[in-house]
Order: sequence, then structure tokens, then C-alpha cells
Amino acid sequence: MADNDKERLLDHSYDGIQEYDNPLPTWWKLIFYATILVVPLYMWDPLGIGLGPGREVAYQQDLAAFAAAHPQNTGPTLNDEQFVALSKDSAKVGEGKALFTTTCVACHRPDGGGLIGPNLTDDFWIHGGKPTDIHKTINEGVLAKGMPNWGKMLKPEQVDVLTAFVISIHGSNPVNPKAPDGVQATPDSATAPVVPAAVKKGK
Ligand code: HEC
Repeated sequence: MADNDKERLLDHSYDGIQEYDNPLPTWWKLIFYATILVVPLYMWDPLGIGLGPGREVAYQQDLAAFAAAHPQNTGPTLNDEQFVALSKDSAKVGEGKALFTTTCVACHRPDGGGLIGPNLTDDFWIHGGKPTDIHKTINEGVLAKGMPNWGKMLKPEQVDVLTAFVISIHGSNPVNPKAPDGVQATPDSATAPVVPAAVKKGK
């Protein structure tokens, strides 16, 4: 060890480890001080100088953008008859089927025969078999039972075409379906009116 090194060696020794008294290089210190000078701009962003409108405004803008991209689905925009009409529009039903295939099959099977979720093709409905009931279940979900609230994740039009697709597969009798859940929706059942008979034919 050169003499010079001994001079630079500090007195203290921790677990036998000693260190040099090396000053930090000037360029390093200048960058460090420069970063400190910038701090107030980030902390206060007074009057939106230089760095945009400020955190609060930026946050509100982000929230508004998110809300615009994820509109709250309040309820059906179509009535029962309009959903039935939609379920006969093969282009829309095709869109619904494509979405169903990516989003719903894990629980309802590709043919809607049911797996974790109930059979969607039979006459039995837990939450009602009217088109607007089906829309409501898809839109709001049944979180406690494991059915996600798709209205929060999908666009209103997507929930509409999914509803149309579910209506379109009604009565399709897939092989090996899940046992019926819920109430049979007969035409005279007040609690769960059946999907209009016309729908069954209009695949
Ligand atoms: C994570 C599993 C899961 C996924 C994914 C899922 N579901 Fe469900 N779904 C369920 C469960 C569980 C129920 C039954 C809820 C209950 O028991 O109240 C259900 C119920 C339903 C019902 C009502 C059935 C009835 O008898 O009233 C409809 C309609 C439905 N789902 C459509 C869909 C559609 C459309 C999608 C895709 C966008 C979807 N589900 C995705 C689990 C799921």
C-alpha cells in the first residue's frame, strides 16, 4: 500500500473493513444539485409552469379519459322485441359469438351447454329468461355466484350482441348439457317469462 493510500484511509474500521476518504467527483455533485433544484417544480408545479397542468388536473383528466373509455352500463338500451330482432341479425349474432368464444366459454362452454355457469340454451333461468333479463345478468353479473359484471369490462354494444347471441342459442340442445338451474320459464310464469317463441325459430 502506497503512503498516499495510507493518508486517504479513514480511521474507522467496521468488521475489519476500512475505506478511503474519496471526495465525490465534481460532475457527480453538479448533477445531484441540479436534481434538487428541479424538485420544487415537481412538488408544487405552480400555475402549471413547464410541467403540464399539475398532478390534480392530470389525475382528473386521466379519470375522465378512463370513464369515457369504459362507459357505465346503466341498463338495456333495447327492449325485449329489439333484442329479439338483434338475435336474428346474423352479423350481430356473429359478433356476439366471437365475443362469447373469447370471454364466456370458460364457464359456459362454447355451445352454451354450461360448465361452471349454467346451461344458457335451455328453458331454465336463474335470473329470468326475457331478453332484458339476460342482458341485465350479463351487464351486472352475479358477483357472489361467480358471474362477472361484464358491463364494467365491455362496451354497451358488446353486451347487446352477447345478449343477442345467448338468445340465438336458445333451444339448441347441445350434447351433454349441465343439469337445469333455476326456474323453468314457461310463457305463463310471472317470475321468469320465456324468451319469445319467435326467437327459438329465428336462429
Ligand atoms: C367465471 C365464470 C363465468 C364467466 C367467464 C361467465 N359466466 Fe355467466 N354465469 C356464471 C355463473 C356462475 C352463473 C350463475 C349465477 C348464479 O348462480 O346466480 C352465470 C350466469 C349467467 C347467465 C344467467 C343464467 C340464468 O340462468 O339466469 C347468463 C345469461 C350468463 N351467465 C351469460 C354470460 C356471458 C354472455 C358471459 C361472457 C360475457 C359469461 N356469462 C361469462 C359464470 C360465468
